[in-house]
Amino acid sequence: MGGIPLFPEAASSFASEVDALYLFIVAVSAFFTVAVSVAVVVFGIKYRRKHAEEVGAHIEGSLPLELAWSIIPTIISMVMFGWGAKLFYEMRVPPDETLQIYAVGKQWMWKFQHTGGQREINELHVPMGRPIKVLVTSEDVLHDLYFPAFRTKIDAIPGRYSQLWFTATKAGRYRIFCAEYCGTKHSGMIGSVVVMEPPQYQAWLAGGGTEGTMAERGAKLFNDLACNTCHLDSGQGRGPSLKDIIGKPVELAGGGTALVDEGYLRESILNSQAKVVKGFAPLMPTFQGLISEEGLAALIEHIKSLSPQATTSAPALVPAAATISSTPDAPAQGAQR
Ligand code: CUA
Repeated sequence: MGGIPLFPEAASSFASEVDALYLFIVAVSAFFTVAVSVAVVVFGIKYRRKHAEEVGAHIEGSLPLELAWSIIPTIISMVMFGWGAKLFYEMRVPPDETLQIYAVGKQWMWKFQHTGGQREINELHVPMGRPIKVLVTSEDVLHDLYFPAFRTKIDAIPGRYSQLWFTATKAGRYRIFCAEYCGTKHSGMIGSVVVMEPPQYQAWLAGGGTEGTMAERGAKLFNDLACNTCHLDSGQGRGPSLKDIIGKPVELAGGGTALVDEGYLRESILNSQAKVVKGFAPLMPTFQGLISEEGLAALIEHIKSLSPQATTSAPALVPAAATISSTPDAPAQGAQR
């Protein structure tokens, strides 16, 4: 697609399939638009009334014709639906092993936080060839995090996490857009995503995160907010133990269960009465308005770090990072001219 300027570069594992589906739908639509338009004009001329007293021929229905124009479009639209549904499912369900990044939209910028502690604004560095999950939220209004080169986007919704994932397949610098009208400077809410070869990415990681990892910052917050006084590891505290809870169902006081994931933790911190764990009194205060989005993400990373089996987001530092010669921000191959 590189030769057609209307198409952004294709730099993710599902970009080519998204393009193929898109082109298939456009081709089918174009074919029928042309076929119907031509038929209207040709038949309009061929069967026009030639004498004032001419009467139209009597036409009986045709069962084969009726069947054909019902069955063929049904098959074509079911192909579109099936293909689209399969691709949608692939794009919405991240693999188990992902590198996790937190994104917060606000008027009018994108803030990214890596689990290693690195923070970025309007720029995101990711390694090539590794599935990356981005948990997205907003501090104010609706935004939409859009990576055209990866053919994926997701709404940033105030008050909750949404997520997208991708595997970047080509090093380079690509655009980030906000794809939801969010105020006067919506069009300026742009940034770039830098896809790096793994060794360069490791070097970039090593250059940041001076304030400690997200989990470390979260651990500090956990003590500062006195979460540790109730959530004892022993389970004997006034709140449930937070050890090894990630990815597991928890029984709720009102009956039913909830799966412990980032969204559940977020809700439990901000709206602590929503899903109280069975066997515990609803004593926890709300932390709504007391923690920033960054703090919340750090707290969640800390709680996730208490479930070592389930933690998949810690970027593994490659010891060979010392052998890297180029600077972290060196333009990768896709950006070279
Ligand atoms: Cu943010 Cu448009």
